[in-house]
Amino acid sequence: MKGLYVHLPFCKNKCLYCGFYSETDSYDIQKEYFQALIADLKSREIKDYNTLYIGGGTPSSVDMNLLAGFLDMLSVLTKGNFAESTIEANPESISDDFLDLVHNYKFSRLSVGCQSTSDMVLKMLTRIHTSKDIFDSVELIRKKCPDTALNLDMIYDIPGAAFEDTFSTLKDLIKLNPEHISAYTYSFDTSYLEDKKDESTDFMIVRERLIDAGYNKYEISNFARSGHESLHNINYWQLGDYDGIGSSAWSLQNLPNKRILKGKTDNIRDYIKDPLVYLATETTDNPQTIIEELVFGLRITDGVDLDKICVNIDAELKDKLYNALTELKKKDLVVWNGSKVALSNSGELLLDSVQSFLWEQLP
Ligand SMILES: C[S@@+](CC[C@H](N)C(=O)[O-])C[C@H]1O[C@@H](n2cnc3c(N)ncnc32)[C@H](O)[C@@H]1O
Ligand code: SF4
Repeated sequence: MKGLYVHLPFCKNKCLYCGFYSETDSYDIQKEYFQALIADLKSREIKDYNTLYIGGGTPSSVDMNLLAGFLDMLSVLTKGNFAESTIEANPESISDDFLDLVHNYKFSRLSVGCQSTSDMVLKMLTRIHTSKDIFDSVELIRKKCPDTALNLDMIYDIPGAAFEDTFSTLKDLIKLNPEHISAYTYSFDTSYLEDKKDESTDFMIVRERLIDAGYNKYEISNFARSGHESLHNINYWQLGDYDGIGSSAWSLQNLPNKRILKGKTDNIRDYIKDPLVYLATETTDNPQTIIEELVFGLRITDGVDLDKICVNIDAELKDKLYNALTELKKKDLVVWNGSKVALSNSGELLLDSVQSFLWEQLP
């Protein structure tokens, strides 16, 4: 299993809470950027990918002719028969042309960044779309791309937003009946909006409402109708192999005794100048790779199969690992099911603390 991630760092407007690097720039730089992406892809050794994910930035806001030209080249360079292909979009830029492209290139998933259906909250988040744009764009998507599964993104626990805003956003998104919903807690990636540091979290209500509506929670922030779980993202959370092309994209390669993570510059102009250069390389040796698989894998609701990840570790580390997990079980933060260990309902509320505890306990 190997995924391909393509990063398109272009947006119509910069949202003040967003820590991702993107530019609100012109056609010329986009043209050069797509050429750089092709050079980057050409340089990859094995181009036999199972999944494709085109994210950003805002893929729906780029020049559609350039994007189509890039997708043509991409299908020539790869085998093109992805088991799953996803593209991201923002409500205000979901045009007929964009949806024609989604349909013609047979994207199996379209992910729309809604964030909230309250116009007041959208304004506070400095989004440039309204709730009406969300409803109108979903109607258009269903009409023009009936074979494409829909994901809607939302954010909760936004400082200054009321609990009722989360509740009505959930109600509105469920009514739109997407195949998948990603619900993220507001993260303080920039200095915009102040953390009031109260302990309240809407996570419990988000989880309950979405499960009641028939969505399967398969990851801490991700909910899907049966069979619509994102294969690309599951591979990413399980630390499977993936290539990332584009500025600020990361690639991960698993070798017999180590795992290598390599990242590109997040500066678009530097990337265009030399798309083959990696700015950062991090190597994780065994047995640290196994600890990473456990700590990251706990995000997945189904949990981590200890029999599977512990095959090649020595008895001493295995003891430490089981002892740490037994401690967490005593505190009702994880549950065991055969050889699988997963977060309990209360463990999900304390994911960060559970992960920090494991990092501290394990070498
Ligand atoms: C980086 S955006 C790219 C897609 C698209 N441009 C958009 O704005 O939806 C992907 C998703 O990340 C989430 N996101 C970005 N910044 C966030 C933050 N500070 N806290 C929580 N979620 C965030 C949003 O839900 C967003 O839909
Ligand atoms: S949230 Fe999306 S639209 Fe807003 S700046 Fe980030 S990537 Fe661009």
